Amino acid sequence: MNAPVSSQSDAFIAALEAAFDCKTVATGEDIAERNRADWSGLSPVRPLALLRPASASDVAAAMKLCNEHGVAVVPQGGMTGLCGGAQPIEGAVALSMERMSGIEEIDIAGATMTVKAGTPLETVQKATEEKGMYFALDLGARGSCTIGGNIATNAGGNRVIRYGMTRDLVLGIEAVLADGTIVTSLNKMIKNNAAYDLKQMFIGSEGTLGIVTRAVLRLHPLPRFTSAAVCALEKYEDVVTLLKAARRGLGPMLAAFEVMWSDYWEVIATTPGLRMPFGPGHGFHVLIECHGTDETHDRAKFDSFLEAQVENGLLADAVVAQSVADARAFWEVRDAVSEFPLTFGDHIPFDIGLPVERMDEFRTECLEALRAEIPAVHALFYGHVGDGNIHIVVRDRAAEKPPKQLICDTVYGVVAKFGGTISAEHGIGTTKKQWLPLTRSPSELDTMRLLKKALDPNNILNPGKVL
Ligand code: FAD
Ligand code: LAC
Ligand code: ZN
Repeated sequence: MNAPVSSQSDAFIAALEAAFDCKTVATGEDIAERNRADWSGLSPVRPLALLRPASASDVAAAMKLCNEHGVAVVPQGGMTGLCGGAQPIEGAVALSMERMSGIEEIDIAGATMTVKAGTPLETVQKATEEKGMYFALDLGARGSCTIGGNIATNAGGNRVIRYGMTRDLVLGIEAVLADGTIVTSLNKMIKNNAAYDLKQMFIGSEGTLGIVTRAVLRLHPLPRFTSAAVCALEKYEDVVTLLKAARRGLGPMLAAFEVMWSDYWEVIATTPGLRMPFGPGHGFHVLIECHGTDETHDRAKFDSFLEAQVENGLLADAVVAQSVADARAFWEVRDAVSEFPLTFGDHIPFDIGLPVERMDEFRTECLEALRAEIPAVHALFYGHVGDGNIHIVVRDRAAEKPPKQLICDTVYGVVAKFGGTISAEHGIGTTKKQWLPLTRSPSELDTMRLLKKALDPNNILNPGKVL
């Protein structure tokens, strides 16, 4: 998609200003800084115009106008994406969902909730908890990320092992297509095989196939009992044994299984104000969270499971939360990744999917390959190991700016060798696009292009992203 030349863009902006009020359209210096860059670390870009629609019909009118003028549109949610998906494109319109926020309905008997796409995740979590229900998606960016962004990225997060990815928590969607057609598919039923399940096309499409305006979310009952523990282990094979034992011993109570390698632990311990459950010196730290239905019975089950693992020598140590505040403090150690810009400096983040059993072997090979290229490399490993998903953050101690191309080629080369994926949960955006063929076959990519062409023949929805 080309940027319109000046007289065309003037005419286009005049058309926008005629169609929408000044709350909806901003141009020039009136475009807020927050709409110029997402969390991916790319340099800010000022879009041609910022649109902040208040309804699906506003979105439809905006898309129709942009399609007719051949102007690209970049959908924006909370701007917490890590791959540049919501990053503006010069000459394109940024369409922010920030005014389309709010909860329309909570249906307790049906265990569903209908929300506008710009609603922040944390607002959804709190509103369901007040009704004794639970929306199970959770991630460190919960305060800023939006349901629309979560859907567009098929976000994963901390509780996938128990409740699945965003895809598993969405029953219905309303979306606006590139030509302005509103597709209302706000299904509330768990079972609905009446032809194609259209919502699946939009989930994980990173704003390239349609703009999500509303969603029906799937709720669970609020767990009556939650607890958490941090376990210290010395060997990765023990981590895998613990995961298998936790799946067997805790069954559906197992709600999170997060692993932090010692390199992560040492750096995270420097985060100001953090209460670390252990000092340094252990090879691995596993944060296990448990959700149950009965305080007395399930607490005893969780405690005795952990005691048995200490007694059989699997765990070097374990700290069990004695209060909600303790559990929160454990999660703060895991969520302190948001402070990496401060504690770790300029880095390249990775979001790798791999077979669980081979993760430590992958780490060893990855470190060897990185050290061969960058002698002063510094890499931290952590993540949702229970879901086969690890994150790596990599910097070069000898350079202020890490050499991105070299680091990515090296890490993704090892990922390809292990048959992994270059994105388990964050998506592709622009920052990983170059390496997509390592993870997807030519026929998969051709089919994706066919779908894109069918839904957006003029290539105006987030062009240049993903494919
Ligand atoms: P944005 O960043 O605004 O947009 C993301 C993509 O979705 C873009 O391509 C954009 O065009 C598109 N989009 C946004 N809204 C819409 C819409 N309504 N319709 C169509 N397309 C839209 N991600 C995980 O999966 N798991 C984690 O554990 C996790 N932890 C994180 C921790 C931190 C500290 C941070 C900063 C990020 C983390 N993320 C994680 C990444 C990020 O939070 C998620 O990708 C999130 O789902 C993005 O939501 P957003 O509203 O901020 O979307
Ligand atoms: C996390 C993000 C980065 O899990 O996905 O911390
Ligand atoms: Zn993650």
